[in-house]
Amino acid sequence: MLTKEEIASVFKCDIVGRDIIYLESAASTNDSAFEIGRNRPDPEGIVVVAEMQTKGRGRLGRSWISPAGVNLYFTVLLTPSFTPEQASILTLAVPVAIASAIRTLNGLPAQIKWPNDIIVNGKKAGGVLIEMKAGKTTSQRLLAIGIGINVNMSPDALPSEIRPLSTSLKMEKGESVSRSELLGGILSGLEHAYKNLLNGNKRDLINEWLRLNCTIGRRVSVRNQDRTISGIADGVNERGELAVRLSSGETEIVRAGDVTILKD
Ligand code: BTN
Repeated sequence: MLTKEEIASVFKCDIVGRDIIYLESAASTNDSAFEIGRNRPDPEGIVVVAEMQTKGRGRLGRSWISPAGVNLYFTVLLTPSFTPEQASILTLAVPVAIASAIRTLNGLPAQIKWPNDIIVNGKKAGGVLIEMKAGKTTSQRLLAIGIGINVNMSPDALPSEIRPLSTSLKMEKGESVSRSELLGGILSGLEHAYKNLLNGNKRDLINEWLRLNCTIGRRVSVRNQDRTISGIADGVNERGELAVRLSSGETEIVRAGDVTILKD
């Protein structure tokens, strides 16, 4: 079990995880976090962790498989004073914290596929869903950073259609992984990144994202709703957008979508 006491014992932060709310079950921890955030005078840094989700959401309207007791499902609430446009750098900051913690704590070669999929040995082991809503006052913005990581899930818990593309840390490592230790490592990394961003330091973060990513320089196709483009992934900017060089020589800037890495 992931208890509140166990989680609190493995890390120490000033902002992220100031208060940890543990739920045995949530529809979606992002929804629980928004609800809690709207009813607290100072929701900055609250973390909502659930043992399972009944309506876990992924990016682009997908669902997120959330069985009980094996994985990590949590949401970090932030109330940044910067604009939504400036906050978009968090799209890059969050997967950096996750991939770094997986590498350091579990020795697995975690990588980032644009924008924020966590890939281990070519398969997806985690994802990030960032949503924003108005807070208690009109000037306050609540940013919910929802993180799902397949930690100790076995292959039979995955629906057959995503099984070839998905994995868990246990499946890659061949042994169980401590969920509370990993959660602590990710929260510490997020705090470090958030403090850097509050101080205006984006360059280090982009460099770390570039070091850990497996998208830039590759031939990719990017699907966004009804449109697919392909070309060479050329770089990311401070808003977390991807530049794709098309065969025509033009460069297209993509804000959201799903990347498939094509054979070179
Ligand atoms: C993706 O890769 O599509 C993003 C997946 C994000 C899943 C997490 S689990 C915790 C939080 N609550 C949700 O409903 N979704 C996010």
